[in-house]
Amino acid sequence: MTGRNITTSRLLLAGAALFFSVLLQADNFNQADLDRWQAEYMTVVTEGERVFHGGLGNDNGVSCDQCHPNASNTHPETYPKFQQQLGKVSELWEMINWCIMNPLEADPLAADDPRMIALQAYINHERRGVKLAPGKH
Ligand code: HEC
Repeated sequence: MTGRNITTSRLLLAGAALFFSVLLQADNFNQADLDRWQAEYMTVVTEGERVFHGGLGNDNGVSCDQCHPNASNTHPETYPKFQQQLGKVSELWEMINWCIMNPLEADPLAADDPRMIALQAYINHERRGVKLAPGKH
């Protein structure tokens, strides 16, 4: 074997080892894990529902549900899309911040703020089963 061939076969072996370890990890959960993950997900959805229904603590007393009862007209399935208010292709959280800054007159939330994650979880959960339609108006 030439030196080059040995290097190639070592690389192939390393690649195969990586592939199988990822495969093993991917399968490495059971029903108890699934139940726990679902429970954690629903905890975040419930927190989002609370924030959506007046739980943000903003001073002007305006809440999301006044204009979007049960997350209606929030169309998470259409993101990312061009949003006129922001003048660019935007993600759902950016539009949520537009509503937080305008009707709610509060400071925007960071994209990874747990309340922002929760709001998105709740909005998406309410629209589960709706076909994805990114970019749609
Ligand atoms: C005073 C009414 C009002 C309140 C309160 C309000 N919104 Fe909105 N919301 C709007 C309007 C108006 C739009 C813009 C509609 C458009 O152009 O798509 C909008 C758009 C949105 C969109 C994008 C909808 C789409 O079709 O792309 C989301 C998501 C959203 N709001 C979430 C929220 C959340 C979360 C809150 C609370 C933090 C909130 N809104 C509070 C009026 C409101």
